[in-house]
Amino acid sequence: MTSIEILGATTGAMVMIALGIGSQAGAQHDASRVQASGDPNQTFVSLCVPCHGPQGKGDGPAAVAFNPRPADFTKAELWVERTDEELVTSITKGVNAMPPFGPQLSQEEIRGLVAYIKSLRVPSTPWPVGISR
Ligand code: HEC
Repeated sequence: MTSIEILGATTGAMVMIALGIGSQAGAQHDASRVQASGDPNQTFVSLCVPCHGPQGKGDGPAAVAFNPRPADFTKAELWVERTDEELVTSITKGVNAMPPFGPQLSQEEIRGLVAYIKSLRVPSTPWPVGISR
């Protein structure tokens, strides 16, 4: 592990504490409050940022613990040939180390998250050659 990774992990831990993620006592309550707000951005910050990072680059505070790393939503490659339905399924049921969010979020909220994470794709990122969408 490089010193940059150690630094990242430390900063990450601080971010988690700042977000209140470190204190799990009120987590259940917080989750239902987030759910009620229905704001995908807020839901993303509460539930996804710890692993996927604030810009969705797959560099959240907990990301170092995963192999493969959490998906980078800014990368065009991730979106190629992938339908909303597949993304909804991934978030609902989880993918490998990623936990399922179906028990916690409604399908509507998950659809809101899909729209949100798609908006994180860096607009200037070119599609790979030969891909028409
Ligand atoms: C505990 C860490 C963790 C959290 C929290 C988490 N993810 Fe993930 N996520 C991962 C990992 C790890 C992967 C890569 C899984 C793989 O490819 O093996 C991933 C992959 C994904 C993918 C790509 C799935 C695919 O089909 O390849 C999507 C979309 C995604 N996450 C969305 C979300 C959303 C939305 C949230 C918040 C509701 C979230 N994730 C929360 C760890 C996490």
